[in-house]
Amino acid sequence: MAWEIPFLDLRVQDATQRGELLAAVDRVLQHGRLIDGPETVELAAAIAARAGRAQGVGVGSGSDALYYGVRALDLPAGSEVILPCLSMAASAACLVRNHLQPVYADVLDDLTIDPASVARLITPATRALLLVHYTGRCCELAPLQALCREHGLALIEDVAQAFGASYHGQPAGSFGEVACFSFNNMKILAALGEAGCVVGDRPGLSERLRQLRHNGIAPDGLCVEASGNGRLDTLQAALLLCRLRWVDALIARRQAIARRYNAQLADVVSVPPITADRSDVFYVYSLRTPRREALRAALEAVGIEPKLRDPVLLPQQPAFAATARGEWTRAAALNATTLCLPAHEGLRDDQVDHVAATVRRFYGA
Ligand SMILES: Cc1ncc(COP(=O)(O)O)c(C=O)c1O
Repeated sequence: MAWEIPFLDLRVQDATQRGELLAAVDRVLQHGRLIDGPETVELAAAIAARAGRAQGVGVGSGSDALYYGVRALDLPAGSEVILPCLSMAASAACLVRNHLQPVYADVLDDLTIDPASVARLITPATRALLLVHYTGRCCELAPLQALCREHGLALIEDVAQAFGASYHGQPAGSFGEVACFSFNNMKILAALGEAGCVVGDRPGLSERLRQLRHNGIAPDGLCVEASGNGRLDTLQAALLLCRLRWVDALIARRQAIARRYNAQLADVVSVPPITADRSDVFYVYSLRTPRREALRAALEAVGIEPKLRDPVLLPQQPAFAATARGEWTRAAALNATTLCLPAHEGLRDDQVDHVAATVRRFYGA
């Protein structure tokens, strides 16, 4: 079905941007260093600098970033790591693939991890807390950082959905011992394909990550640990460097769309919070309504494409259910009523207003 208002539109329609992207491709074609080329190094440095971090290493995807980032912490096998029960599969898979035990914490109304739930789940076997800045909103970091300090837990950030977000003015990606970014084509800072990055400050981190993403091969050419191939293509890095120049305008547009929706919808559905302590980037705009399925059908009937994000909680996914432990009652209730509206930066104001009017009409407002 061709949607009148699709959830996302990945075409590059702006002629200036197309020109700059094509010129970036041409530069890579001319120097020919297709893996680990100069753009890869430049991009990782730029991502690290933006998060105020000393080191950054580009990898093949956000899933790679999480897997290698967690692996670089060398947590003892079997250690418990607490993470939110609501996220994309990669957030839990990186733990299982590193022989760690995921423990799922419940979420707050804003769909980020609930610090009180985390506190209840800490045991002597807990070694780390993996935070997901879900929907592009930073978690409630102050109490979470306090728990990490009190219990000696490593803090891992999954920044896949939150490039450019901040908490009390501090950028997402600046908090964790490692912070893991995705630049998948749907993300805020989006490659034309797959890409990711890990940032942090610990001395030796970038050397270890470069080894891990290159089959565990040390600079002397010897393979010193079994790993995989997770390097970032130079082409994607070159394209991302272009998009990095435009990303703040893109975020500002997404924030304006979210405010526009909130102003028109707050009296008929539960809208996402916009609070002074955080700057959210609205990777998705998600509202809540007990009549979710009927509203979804009403939008689809007029050519508007809404989406459910992560309709199955991590502990209920077939891959993770057998060993799942933790709390997720509230997340299950919230998730059953959540619906995401198209809110990408390419939407015009009249399209946003049309979506909002359709929702209001559904409620007879
Ligand atoms: C929260 C979260 N973590 C990790 C990932 C994985 O990133 P990638 O698709 O780049 O592997 C995603 C992708 O959607 C995500 O939303």
